[in-house]
Amino acid sequence: MKTSIIPNFKFIAALFLILSVAACTPSEKESGDTLFKARELFPEPPRPAGQTDVIELRCDPIDTVRIAFIGVGSRGTEAVRRYTYLEGVKIVALCDLVPENLERAQKILKGSGLPPADTYTGELDWQKVCEREDVNLIYVCTHWDLHTPIAVYAMEHGKHVATEVPAAITMEQCWQLVNTAEKTRLHCMQLENCNYDFFEMATLNMARHGLFGEIVHAEGAYIHDLRALYFNETDEYWNMWRLRHNQNRNGNLYPTHGFGPICHTLNIHRGDKMEYLVTLASDQFGMTEYAKDKFGEDSDYATRDYKRGDMNTTLIKTSRGKSILIQHDVTSPRPYSRIHMLSGTKGFVQKWPIQGIALEPEAHSFMSEEKMDSLLAVYEHPITKEVGEMARKVGGHGGMDFTMDYRLIHCLRNGLPLDQDVYDAAEWSSIIELSEKSIANQSMPVKVPDFTRGAWQKVSTVTYY
Ligand SMILES: NC(=O)c1ccc[n+]([C@@H]2O[C@H](COP(=O)([O-])OP(=O)(O)OC[C@H]3O[C@@H](n4cnc5c(N)ncnc54)[C@H](O)[C@@H]3O)[C@@H](O)[C@H]2O)c1
Repeated sequence: MKTSIIPNFKFIAALFLILSVAACTPSEKESGDTLFKARELFPEPPRPAGQTDVIELRCDPIDTVRIAFIGVGSRGTEAVRRYTYLEGVKIVALCDLVPENLERAQKILKGSGLPPADTYTGELDWQKVCEREDVNLIYVCTHWDLHTPIAVYAMEHGKHVATEVPAAITMEQCWQLVNTAEKTRLHCMQLENCNYDFFEMATLNMARHGLFGEIVHAEGAYIHDLRALYFNETDEYWNMWRLRHNQNRNGNLYPTHGFGPICHTLNIHRGDKMEYLVTLASDQFGMTEYAKDKFGEDSDYATRDYKRGDMNTTLIKTSRGKSILIQHDVTSPRPYSRIHMLSGTKGFVQKWPIQGIALEPEAHSFMSEEKMDSLLAVYEHPITKEVGEMARKVGGHGGMDFTMDYRLIHCLRNGLPLDQDVYDAAEWSSIIELSEKSIANQSMPVKVPDFTRGAWQKVSTVTYY
């Protein structure tokens, strides 16, 4: 008996090996002696019957986009102000728990000569707002917990939705967004404003023109000392929501700012896709030390157990063999940085800590500032050329926020696919829980699900229509 089983077993093992190598994506072929594959902790749920992908989704043009803002705290109020400068929009409703916030937003409308909007203040009034017949777009600027619930409810009630970052805070929420957008065939855009920064847009344009050759590696970050903000010393976060999140989870909780621009440059889910990631986090030191210094050794803030390690570093491998690094640190005293770095076979660009471009054949050092400025002028993105002057005037992080608003409304009014789709929202937000799981397991490689469920090669590049 035994002797007849052994050859069979060898044959089956050999067959299994051949089949698994054949099934490998290019990045998985990198090592012949892989001990284990990235863990598929979040398998892709099958697409519900009758549902198809929403890659490059086009919806009926809307002549005047009727908007309701939900959450008009500091970010939402700014959004209302910016929207008073846009043509083809009407602000019909404002919703927030704090009556003074609503009054402040109404004053902005009045100051711009616009009619007052209807206001809502109840805890669940956002549902009433989503149920209104006369709204086309729900614009969400609440704390993170409500982004996905509101977005899903809005789409289920026939509304396009734009939500502040991150669009989702769990993998389950990421799939809820994807499934609802596919089922309702409505737009769900995550409001990643950093994609519209002038420098990021120019480098996207340069990359499209092949200046950096094949982009092999990209880096992004959100490094921003927010300790004073978390303790509401410099601003009033509603109910200290941001401190609560940063206290309770250890992961990259705010990945999208540095990540969005490089994902578009690398055409993620337009010809390439993320395969797996590993995340390593330092321990937590910053919040405790800051709280001790500010509030006293024995204070409530100083004695809390802050879970999130200060420096969080994630590495991602893509299907086409590219590597990505993203970092998150919001509790160390250091200069602001989103890194924004692209390294290709013909050149290199970075924005932080020093802005510079280096191109072959002189890529061993940065080109002069004059040369870089003229290159940036030549490769200014057509969109910032079109709207840049107005964007700088209206402002919002130097103008990128207004460019984002302008693009969203332009695409809705013309029935065009949005620059950022629901898969971007899910992919960029998914880093939160994926990184959390990797950290919790000694930086275990974790597979990144394909939120397009096979449609990632349908188009080969990101297009801003
Ligand atoms: N893209 C960017 O550059 C950027 C910058 C800052 C903030 N943000 C994002 O914007 C969002 C809001 O941040 P913020 O700084 O304005 O916070 P905030 O605390 O000032 O605003 C949140 C608002 O939500 C309201 N709210 C709470 N529960 C509500 C409910 N049930 N119904 C209606 N409103 C409710 C609060 O009253 C508050 O006014 C966050 O998601 C944050 O990540 C993005």
